[in-house]
Amino acid sequence: MEKNKMLLSAEMFILKLRKLFSENIDEDKIWSQASVDLQEMLKDPKLLKHSKSWPTSPAKLGLEGKHANLLFYEDPDYGFVINALIKKPSAKTTIHDHGKSWTLYGVVAGGEQVLRFETSKDINPIDLPAEAKVKETSRVNVGPGYVDFIKPWEIHAEYNLDEPTVAVIVRSQRCGTYIQNIYYKKDDSVEQYYGPEQIPFHLG
Ligand SMILES: [Fe+2]
Repeated sequence: MEKNKMLLSAEMFILKLRKLFSENIDEDKIWSQASVDLQEMLKDPKLLKHSKSWPTSPAKLGLEGKHANLLFYEDPDYGFVINALIKKPSAKTTIHDHGKSWTLYGVVAGGEQVLRFETSKDINPIDLPAEAKVKETSRVNVGPGYVDFIKPWEIHAEYNLDEPTVAVIVRSQRCGTYIQNIYYKKDDSVEQYYGPEQIPFHLG
């Protein structure tokens, strides 16, 4: 995707992340540092201003459950992507993991709860189970500037408060290239899918 005319703060973030990848260091370290770099990008007032132009239609952008993402950038060499997600007031994501991918979820505007869950010890998300009971382990209220660092197979959800939440998401690879789990508390079933639909959009 074209990146020449993106916001400067996004360009800087991409350069930093590309440098981290070029150093061939451990993925955990790459994404820990990128989490700090994304916090820098979130401080850019031009990002907040630009986010007001991000579309909330088609309706799958911002609905309950399986949200679609805007796709701003896909790196041609290292494969990481920059997405955005806009959720309506009180909207809830599913309880899900992001499969083998690494994710940084940065809040641009709004407010929400970030939740974590675990399965019983004999069930491993990596095995793509058909059934699993999940238990909530933490719930934190977060706002603009917060970056949630989601490691591979970590089970989580985001529940909006009473306003829309706008987030920039950085993923180690584009949705559609890996499988992930959705956990349904109503009957303990688990569904596998290939993640949110990607809707290209220009950040600049
Ligand atoms: Fe997620």
